[in-house]
Amino acid sequence: MDSLLLRKLPLGLRISLSALTLVLLGGYAASGLHMAEHHGPRDGQEGLTGDDITGVYHGVQSPSPLRSALEAGHPDDLDGAVQVPAAEREALLAWLNSGRVIEDWDNFDLGEMVPADLLDANCMACHGRGATNPIEPPLEYLDDVRVLAFDNNVSPTDEAILLASTHAHALSLFVIALAAVLLLCLTRFRRSWVSAVSLAISVGLLLDLVSWWLARDSAIWVNGILLGGTAHALGIGLAGVLVLADLWLPAADKD
Ligand code: HEC
Repeated sequence: MDSLLLRKLPLGLRISLSALTLVLLGGYAASGLHMAEHHGPRDGQEGLTGDDITGVYHGVQSPSPLRSALEAGHPDDLDGAVQVPAAEREALLAWLNSGRVIEDWDNFDLGEMVPADLLDANCMACHGRGATNPIEPPLEYLDDVRVLAFDNNVSPTDEAILLASTHAHALSLFVIALAAVLLLCLTRFRRSWVSAVSLAISVGLLLDLVSWWLARDSAIWVNGILLGGTAHALGIGLAGVLVLADLWLPAADKD
């Protein structure tokens, strides 16, 4: 057993294990970047956010802010707001539900009820860029309206794809995690550190994978994915550093 300690291995083996450890760390860095690029843009915000993870594993429903505001009776409930005539509110809602939001925005065939004009008349006093106190969001141009007019529903990843992904990840990550834990065991470091890092690697992984499935029904498990995934990845990173350190730090004479 003693001859298996990393620092006592012959030079060739220490170089091999170092190379493999670097491959492992590079692989984890690459999967982090891949996830950020692949899932990051989902919620329209820079980077990988909790919402992106929720989108992938649970799905997100965010209804059109424009329709929600109109349905909620906005802005009639605000102090000093001029009431929106009922017929005009209905015309705006009909337009938003028509499936022709872009085409009909300034379609003059709609006569009195051209959406762009209705927004001008009813909303621009507050939501115009030229208003005394301009209020976000602006509603002047088609580009303003476009981002507010649609529901943004993200469905979770298809079950068959999640199953394939679980199968691939569970099997390969088992081998990787086991290798990392075993290598850690062969270092000189305190057993309590080694145990802590091993727990992060293995319990983190289990929590992550189980949460992928639980998050479909209940969004609270998205936290399990974030927590488990982060613990696992940090654990692997730390294990890599510890293993490299043990391979190359001079062994004390009496060891
Ligand atoms: C009297 C000023 C005023 C008028 C007129 C007004 N708004 Fe607003 N609007 C506000 C204020 C203040 C907010 C931010 C606080 C809130 O949401 O009530 C807001 C927020 C909004 C939002 C963003 C809600 C969100 O989810 O973030 C939308 C969309 C909106 N208004 C649409 C409209 C539309 C459409 C009209 C015309 C039919 C309109 N507003 C007219 C004052 C106004």
